[in-house]
Amino acid sequence: MKQIVLLTASILLGVCLCSAQRLPMTTAPENYRLTFTPDLDKATFAGDETIRVHLAQPTSQIVLNAAELTFDTATISAAGATQTAKITINKDKEQAELALGKPIPAGEAIIHIKYSGILNSDMRGFYLGKDDHGRKYAATQFEPVDARRAFPSFDEPNYKATFDISVVATKGLAAISNSKIISETDGPGNGQRTVRFATTPKMSSYLAALIVGNFEYVEGEADGIPIRVYATPGKKELGKFALEASENILKFYDHYFGIKYPYAKLDLIGLPDFSPGAMENTGCITYRESLLLADDQHASVKSKKLVAGVIAHEMAHQWFGDLVTMKWWDDIWLNEGFATWMESKPIETWKPEWNGKLDDVSAITTALNVDSLANTRPILQAAETPDQIFELFDGIAYGKAAAVLQMLEAYLGREGFRAGVNEYLKQHTYGNATAGDFWGTLAKVSRKPVDKIMPTFVKQAGAPMISASAQCSAGSTTVSLAQQRYYYDRQRFEQAAAGDNELWQVPVCLKEAPDGSSKGEQKCELLTEKQGTFTMKGCVPWVLANAGATGYYRSSYSPDALRNMAKSAESALTPEERIILLSDAWASMRVGRDSIGDYLALAEGLQADRNRAVLETLLNQLEYVGRHLANDNNSDREKFQAWLRQLLAPAVRDLGWQAKPGESDEQRSLRAQLLMVLGETGKDPEALEAAKRMTEQVLADPNSVDSELAQPALHLAAMSGSEELYDRVLAKIKTAKTPEQYYLFVNTLGYFSDPKLLQRTLEYAISEDVRSQDSLGLIAKVMTNPAGERLAWEFVRSHWSEVEKKGGPFASADVVAVAGSFCDPGLRDDVTDFFTAHRVNAAERTFKQTVERINYCVDLKSRQSPQLASWLQQHTPSAAK
Ligand code: BES
Ligand code: ZN
Repeated sequence: MKQIVLLTASILLGVCLCSAQRLPMTTAPENYRLTFTPDLDKATFAGDETIRVHLAQPTSQIVLNAAELTFDTATISAAGATQTAKITINKDKEQAELALGKPIPAGEAIIHIKYSGILNSDMRGFYLGKDDHGRKYAATQFEPVDARRAFPSFDEPNYKATFDISVVATKGLAAISNSKIISETDGPGNGQRTVRFATTPKMSSYLAALIVGNFEYVEGEADGIPIRVYATPGKKELGKFALEASENILKFYDHYFGIKYPYAKLDLIGLPDFSPGAMENTGCITYRESLLLADDQHASVKSKKLVAGVIAHEMAHQWFGDLVTMKWWDDIWLNEGFATWMESKPIETWKPEWNGKLDDVSAITTALNVDSLANTRPILQAAETPDQIFELFDGIAYGKAAAVLQMLEAYLGREGFRAGVNEYLKQHTYGNATAGDFWGTLAKVSRKPVDKIMPTFVKQAGAPMISASAQCSAGSTTVSLAQQRYYYDRQRFEQAAAGDNELWQVPVCLKEAPDGSSKGEQKCELLTEKQGTFTMKGCVPWVLANAGATGYYRSSYSPDALRNMAKSAESALTPEERIILLSDAWASMRVGRDSIGDYLALAEGLQADRNRAVLETLLNQLEYVGRHLANDNNSDREKFQAWLRQLLAPAVRDLGWQAKPGESDEQRSLRAQLLMVLGETGKDPEALEAAKRMTEQVLADPNSVDSELAQPALHLAAMSGSEELYDRVLAKIKTAKTPEQYYLFVNTLGYFSDPKLLQRTLEYAISEDVRSQDSLGLIAKVMTNPAGERLAWEFVRSHWSEVEKKGGPFASADVVAVAGSFCDPGLRDDVTDFFTAHRVNAAERTFKQTVERINYCVDLKSRQSPQLASWLQQHTPSAAK
C-alpha cells in the first residue's frame, strides 16, 4: 500500500522511483576548475579540482559521481568556514558522498578535491592510446557516463557548468581541450609544461575533453572561427579534406541555425584508438582516424562522403546537443536523430553531385527495417543505469528519429521547420530542454498540430503501413487509405490487419500517375484515423502513397497498381520515390502480400534505371535473394545468376569495368556496386576476371585503380583467393598510407573462402597486431561471409573472454547484432543458448532482435524459395535452362 502511495506521489511529482542512481537534486555545479597531471608512462594521472556549487537548501552532505578514482582529500568551504569532508564511495552507484560534521547553509559553496586516477586502456573516461609508432597519448571519451572516471562530477546532462581546465604535461606534447589556450608556462616540475585553457561557456560534463600527446595540425577558418584538424605525426596532410569540409559546414550552420557557432574555436582530432565513431565535445571533436583523415586526391567517393557526413553530424551537435542539451538521457534520440537528419543538408549545398538526399531515403528504409521487428522500441524510452543509457544509442535513436524529423520538415516546409528549430535553440541557449519543448515550439511557431503528430511516432513503437487503393468515379479518383502496424512477423501482421489499437497521425503525400502530357496532381493530407478517403483530379491507374518519399511509413498497393507503377516508374517517379517503392514492394513480399515474382517483375521494370541510389537499393535486395532464397537444388541458384546477369547486362554495357575520365562520382559508385553484385551474387566471369586484374594493380600500386573499384575488386578476388594472395594482402597492411587503404587490406582478410585462411583472419583479429577498436569489425566480416559464418561463430564462442574485452566497454553488443545476419535454425539455437549463458551488457534488446531476424530469414527462405524456383523456371534466359 505504502508503495502504491509512493508510486502515485512520484508520478504526480514527475519523480521516477527507479532513479536509484541519479544524484539528489540539492546541489548544482556552477564552475569546475580542474588541473590534470597525466603520467603517460605510468598510465596514471593526478587531479586537482575546485567546484563552485549552489546549494538549494542547507545540507551536511554532497553527493557526486566518481568511478575508479582515488580521493586524497576533500574540503568544502561555505559561509567563511572550511571543513574536511568524510568521503564514502559507493562503487555500484558510481558515486562519492562527501559528509560534513556541521551543516552548511543554502547558497554558494566551494568543494576542493585532490585525487588520482588511472589512464585506462578501455577507451572510456581518461584513457591511454598509442599511435602507429607506439608513442602514447592520453585522451578522453565521456559520453554518456564516463566523465566521472576523470573527475568527481555532477555527471548528468542537466548540470551545466563552466569549465577552467589546465593540464601539466611533458614538454613538447600538444594539449587540446574545449577552449583556446590562454597561457603556457614551463614547470612546475622539471621537463613539465603547464597549459591553461580559457573558461568554457556553460556545458554538460559529458562534453568536456582533454587530449595530450604528439599531434600536428593543419589550420583554416570560417566566419572568423579558427579551425584545426589534428592528427598524429606524419598524417596532418590527410586532414585537408576534413578542413575544407568543416569550413563549408560551419558557414552553412551559422546561417541555418541563425546563431553563430557558439564556441571560440573548433578542433577536429583524429585519434588512432577511439571507441565510438566520433564525439561532439564542445569545440573539440574527436574522431576515429578513418572518419576524419582522407587523401583528397585518391580517396574513394564512399570514404569522402563518410568523412564529410560524420563531420557534419558532429558539428550539428555543437548547436543541437551542446548549446542546447537534453535534460536527461531519455531524450538523447532528439540529439542523435537531429544530427543524423542534419548531416546531409550542408553536404547537399557543398557537394550537390553526391545526391545525399537519396541516401537519406535509403536510411529511412533501414530504420523501417528495425521498426518492423516485434522487439523494436518506442523512440522515447526511460533509462537509468549506464547499460540502459548506452543501449539508447541505437538504430531507433539515430535512424528512426532522423526519419521522423524528415517527415516533419516535409510537413512544415523547409523554412517553417527551420523557424521552429531556431526559436527552440534561441529559447534554450546554453541550457537544457526536453523533446516536448522542441515539438511544442514547432507547433507554436508553425501553428500546425505537430504536438499531435509527434507523440504518435515517438511514444509508440513500430511504423504504420498504409494501404492505398484508387478508384475512378465520375471523372475523379477516390483514394482510400488504411493504416495498420507493419510487422515482419506474419501472424502479428495479420492480427494488426484485422484491427489493432495503434493509431498514427500521419502526414501523407499522394501523387497521381501522369495523364498523357499532364503531370498528375500531388497533395498532402493528415491521416488521423484508421481509414481515410481523399479525392484527386481525373481518372488515373494508380496513386503513389508516399510522394517525395518523405513519410515514415510503408505503403502497400494492389498487384495491378504495382504492375502499372513498375511500367512507368522511371519516368513518372523521382529517384526518391523509386527507392521507397522498391522498399515497399519488398516489405509486401516479406509478409506474403506479394510473391517474389511480383517483386522481381518490378526489378525488371527498372532495368533501364541508371540512378546510383535506386540501383543500390535494388542490388542489395537482389543480393539477399541470391544469398538466402535461391536454393542449391535444381540449379535454382544458377538460374537466378543467369537472370541477374541478363538483368544487369545493359547497365554493364553502358558503364564498362574501366573508369573513364570526366565521369561523375555517381557513375563511379554505380560501377563499383555493379561489379560487386555481378561478381558475388551473379558469379559473372567477366566481372570476376576484371576484379582479379584490378586486384593485381592495387597490390602493385593502390592508386593505380579507380578508388571506387579497389574495394569490390579485392573482395571478389579474395573469395576465390589462395594463400599466396592472402599473404600478399596481409603484407600490404603495413604499407597503408591512409586509413582507407588500411581497412581496404585488413577487411579483405575477412572475404576469403578457404577455412584455413579465415581461421588465420580470426586469430589475427584478436592479436596485438589489430587495434582493439578494429577487432570486432574484422570478426564481423567473417561472420557475414557465407563461407565463414560457422567458423566465425565457433571462434567467437570459444574465444569469448578475449572477444568480449575488445573495442571498449559496450562493443561486444555489436557481435550480438551481427549474428542477426545468420539464416539458419541451428545457428539460431546456438546463438540463443550462448548469449543466454553469457549476457552482454547493453545488448538485451539487440539479442532479442537478432533471434527475431534469424527467424524471419529462415521463415522467408522456406516460403519464398519454392516460389522463386517456379518463377525462375518461367523467366530464366533460354541459354541457362
Ligand atoms: N554522440 C555520439 C557519440 C557516442 C555514441 C558517444 C554513443 C557515446 C555513445 C556521436 O555524435 C555519434 O553519433 N557518433 C557516431 C558517428 C555518427 C556520424 C553517426 C558513432 O560514434 O557511431
Ligand atoms: Zn551524434
